Amino acid sequence: MPLKNRSLLIVEDDEAAAFGYTEYLSQLGCSAITAHTLKDANRLLETAVFDALLLDLRLPDGNALHWIPEQKNSFPQIPIIVISGISDIPTAVQAMKNGAENFLTKPVEMDELTSVLEKCLELSLLRKKTTIQQRLSRVETPCFGVSEKITQLLEFVQLAAANDSVILLQGETGTGKGVLARWIHEKSRRAPEAFVELNCSGLKGELLKSELYGHAKGAFTSAIREREGLMEVADRGTLFLDEIGDMDSEVQAQLLKTIEEKSFRRIGENRVRKSDFRLICATNRDLLEEVTAGRFRSDLYYRICVFPVTVPPLRERIDDIPVLAAHFLAAGSYAGQPFDREVLQALQNYPWPGNVRELKNMLERATLLAQGGNLAISHFPGINGRCGTTGSRVTTDNLYEMEKQHIYSVLGKYNGDKKMASEALGMSFSNLYRRLLQYKKGSGAGTGDQSRKTVTV
Ligand SMILES: Nc1ncnc2c1ncn2[C@@H]1O[C@H](COP(=O)(O)OP(=O)(O)OP(=O)(O)O)[C@@H](O)[C@H]1O
Ligand SMILES: [Mg+2]
Repeated sequence: MPLKNRSLLIVEDDEAAAFGYTEYLSQLGCSAITAHTLKDANRLLETAVFDALLLDLRLPDGNALHWIPEQKNSFPQIPIIVISGISDIPTAVQAMKNGAENFLTKPVEMDELTSVLEKCLELSLLRKKTTIQQRLSRVETPCFGVSEKITQLLEFVQLAAANDSVILLQGETGTGKGVLARWIHEKSRRAPEAFVELNCSGLKGELLKSELYGHAKGAFTSAIREREGLMEVADRGTLFLDEIGDMDSEVQAQLLKTIEEKSFRRIGENRVRKSDFRLICATNRDLLEEVTAGRFRSDLYYRICVFPVTVPPLRERIDDIPVLAAHFLAAGSYAGQPFDREVLQALQNYPWPGNVRELKNMLERATLLAQGGNLAISHFPGINGRCGTTGSRVTTDNLYEMEKQHIYSVLGKYNGDKKMASEALGMSFSNLYRRLLQYKKGSGAGTGDQSRKTVTV
């Protein structure tokens, strides 16, 4: 791992030694700051973000051996390399036991220091990634398609990826906002660092805060040990806040403050911490509507709406369907799986309320049903018999289901424009909105989605 652009804290009271390290490391492209005492080091750690720490042991205000555990508790991701004039083995063993990553004795060979630093930084990145994988899961190979809409969107998004602005991804459920967020991270200069994702809809209040900001030991009843928040884990990388429209107002207020001040505190702690992350937010709600309804803070909305991106629903980019279908079949080891001619036509006519997610799931189910043969229309029970968004035939006798299919088909006819669809349907906008929410949650007449129930895989 190259040392370029890494920031290091050198805790060393010997001016000449500190100067030597700083000079050498800045030639490698690192930025290095020196603290001559533990007190200075504490202050700097609270106000700036560091990738690694070079630590002398005998300092004017104490032996740093005892300071290491405190630091590892507060900043577990920052590797500590001890550089000491004390070269006895028990001290080295104790330093490592206390949490130091490596131990070098003075005088230090600069080549050795470089290689130790590189290894430590690599290890720390791996650790970060493991933490994230333990807490979160989802890696997708993206495929976006070829339609004009998606091509333009990707061009715009690439512009946004190149700088550090907040990006707000909006769009219906299953359109691929999460996949796009990860793609933006991969395209940005932060790609080698962590992509940290948090779904704000599952957690409320203190739990959400604790996940985001971390907490001190004893901050609340279940806080039996200190824990870092995802904001810290996302340092130098990307923090993806999914379903931000579901965030409760107390956390919204705190998030606004964090974005503005670029600093935060763990719950139950006074120390102000810094984290340098790029923020991406996503929601399938109409956030402006949420602002109007008083459910989302307008100041936060305008703060995160720097680069707003609306991912179009699949029914508005049907040219992408063949490409996406081929991608999902290949990903499921069904590359080149033959289609009956009418299948593709039917896929392009279906309104896809569940968007790309639904297409992927439907293809998965169809390949299982086809058992290696041609994919026929009968293998797509959800769309079987539907002949287009305009004149779609209702394929059920269930009233709830009939209404749902009709509403989706009218929505499709007006390219997802809820206002126009509500006028055509003769229902109020808010009524339609509520109905769509109900369908999304799968509630209503208690029948669920019949088209999905037809086949159980
Ligand atoms: N561009 C894409 N490439 C590959 N797979 C995709 C793509 N877009 C969506 N998918 C598939 O659809 C699923 C849903 O995508 P994702 O979770 O990103 O959608 P979303 O817009 O965030 O939906 P929700 O609002 O419900 O969270 C993904 O897990 C993936 O399987
Ligand atoms: Mg999502």
